[in-house]
Amino acid sequence: MAKKKSILDLMKMKKSGEKVAWITAYDFPMASFAEQAGMDMILVGDSLGMVVLGYQGTVPVTMDDCISHCQAVRRGAPNTFIVGDMPFGSYQTSDEEAVKNACRFLKEADVDSIKLEGGRRILSKIKAISDAGIVVIGHIGLTPQSSGQLGGFKAQGRDVDSARELIKDAIAIQEAGARALLVEAIPPELTEYISNKLEIPVYSIGAGLPCDGQLIICGDMLGMFQAFTPKFVKKYAKVAEVITKAFEEYREDVKGEKFPEDKHVYHIKDSMEDFEKLFKEFE
Ligand code: KIV
Repeated sequence: MAKKKSILDLMKMKKSGEKVAWITAYDFPMASFAEQAGMDMILVGDSLGMVVLGYQGTVPVTMDDCISHCQAVRRGAPNTFIVGDMPFGSYQTSDEEAVKNACRFLKEADVDSIKLEGGRRILSKIKAISDAGIVVIGHIGLTPQSSGQLGGFKAQGRDVDSARELIKDAIAIQEAGARALLVEAIPPELTEYISNKLEIPVYSIGAGLPCDGQLIICGDMLGMFQAFTPKFVKKYAKVAEVITKAFEEYREDVKGEKFPEDKHVYHIKDSMEDFEKLFKEFE
């Protein structure tokens, strides 16, 4: 079994050019599959709100939701670098609240790092959490928690003015102590510039190839999340179809008394006559 990566390994991978394969997981089975497949990192994203809990967005997700899902993921992937995603409301109110909640991720769920969304406007939180000794991953570009302000789930940094702001955010995030940066739904030209400019690893979700690794949402790539599919998703499987078909077959088998078969039952050990005597005792 491969050794669990540390932030120093991730830095080394940036230097050597080896790409990081990063995926989300929210529960024990998915985390086990990710670890067996040799993923470098797992994100327990607050996307769990949409992918697993059935909310319309990520805003309703709570700290307790995140902690409990991180715990399950850690049980499933004891040897993988796990990132806990700080949910909306867990860090915006004050630096103190941000540090307190980041500490919960480490103490209660044994994650290796936390991620939080935003650029210069949350810099003091990035700094405070980093100063507390916690590995922080920044997240800029399309930031789902503030999609209301962005006018929806839209690509960012496509014009020079907005790209300039993102470059300033990226530099400031590194200076505040973050140890890696995730860029979401920005043009690859900008991703490449930011990745070359920063010393810390830069990972992409929907931001193209030229950077230090890729993140994908498991529900999207497996074809399990059916509400919508972003342009940047590659579907590697049609799991929703497989599951629905299996459920339909099971339902038909039950209605037609084709399940369970003889091989699925536990037979009696004593004779049928003995059992008939037993049943008579209750008549
Ligand atoms: O919650 C999540 O999965 C994320 C990704 C959208 C980057 O933050």
